[in-house]
Amino acid sequence: MLFEKTSTRTRCATSVACFDEGAHAEFLNKNDIQMGKKESIMDTARVLGRMFDAILYRGFKQKTVEELSSYSGIPIINGLTDEYHPTQILADFMTIKEYFGKLSKIKLVFLGDGKNNVANSLLVGAFKIGIDIAIAAPKKFWPSKDILDYVTKIKKNDSIKINITEDPYEAIKNADVVYTDVWVSMGEEDNPETEEKINLLKPYKVNKKLIKATNKDSTIFMHCLPATHNGEMHYMEVTEEVFESNQSCVFDQAENRLHTIKAILIAVLGG
Ligand code: NVA
Ligand code: CP
Repeated sequence: MLFEKTSTRTRCATSVACFDEGAHAEFLNKNDIQMGKKESIMDTARVLGRMFDAILYRGFKQKTVEELSSYSGIPIINGLTDEYHPTQILADFMTIKEYFGKLSKIKLVFLGDGKNNVANSLLVGAFKIGIDIAIAAPKKFWPSKDILDYVTKIKKNDSIKINITEDPYEAIKNADVVYTDVWVSMGEEDNPETEEKINLLKPYKVNKKLIKATNKDSTIFMHCLPATHNGEMHYMEVTEEVFESNQSCVFDQAENRLHTIKAILIAVLGG
């Protein structure tokens, strides 16, 4: 998504809907441009930087978003890569604040693929904001050393607790937020190791018994969506019962994607 340059710089007073006349967003999909094929990312970045005020890149490789940022000369928003999903986490933290009225003294547990894009960005967000975080996953899907070193460097304070374990029942104790994501992330659909991954992740499926093991009535269930929950696939990361329960706040999260993206645009493009 690209935000076109205007004669007077694109302005936004209170929401994206208030863009000055003439300002607009343009969508380029991978077949519309030659980026990374006939033209280097560096060259495309420099061309787009002359035409637009900002770019939201939703693609695949984290390296691409970083190259766009290095060479375009304009703000680049990471809309989702294989390594990170930062805009999602802003919506998630907004939702947590709506439910609990605070972001301090909250414990979030993530169950499933603990090294995917959403888990990585939750770790970054938790360490920046100061939320205790537990990750329950098979060892093969624990967060990488690189991400753990990074969050240690950026942590808000020394009192943040982190627990990475193979035991979902240990991780979930006292959790205010139970979070999961798909077991098959983008780009993994045709990976020959995907079936083995699904089998390893089965003990981490979020069900009623696990939610009860938080020992808290106020626990909420979160998922970034899209979710596998209704039996269309041969596996599910969350049961239909939990997904549809009154503890589930997944559609509040989905709505808050809208509000937080607007806030990002205001921050980036100016008010
Ligand atoms: N981990 C998921 C996130 C989707 C928003 C994926 O990469 O497909
Ligand atoms: N949460 C999220 O980014 O999902 P979509 O692919 O549905 O936008």
